[in-house]
Amino acid sequence: MSRMTVNGRPVEYLMDEDTPLLWALRDASNLTGTKYGCGNGDCGACMVHVDGVALRACLITIAEAEGRFVTTIEGLSRDRSHPLQQAMVAEQAIQCGFCTPGIVMAAAALLADNPAPDEAAIKAAIPNICRCGVYPRLIRAVERAGR
Ligand code: FES
Ligand code: FES
Repeated sequence: MSRMTVNGRPVEYLMDEDTPLLWALRDASNLTGTKYGCGNGDCGACMVHVDGVALRACLITIAEAEGRFVTTIEGLSRDRSHPLQQAMVAEQAIQCGFCTPGIVMAAAALLADNPAPDEAAIKAAIPNICRCGVYPRLIRAVERAGR
């Protein structure tokens, strides 16, 4: 069992403590915006915020998330109009969209720390893999959101 706060609500997961946070969010909380891509920390599709830091939910167990504040893509903006989401649309930085939630979470954490990141900072903070190759548009979107 593990207790934490997810998108502002207290949650208790009655699962094995070694369960990756990714599966608790998706299977027990039905927060399916957090994607399963690789399951071993490579792709970034499962990125969430834990106490404000962007982390891969496939690499954290629910025991490690005990007592912490978790935010998923569903909790990033109550009306789904986070400036970053608007910028992603404006720059057409979404193709199939599978990688998009993880990218948005990584980028939102970056912008919270650095509202005007340059290209090098964006590339360093967003290591996510996008099989559709939206990388140039993604960089423009993050720059736009930071303005
Ligand atoms: Fe977590 Fe790929 S599913 S990094
Ligand atoms: Fe398709 Fe990134 S938009 S994987």
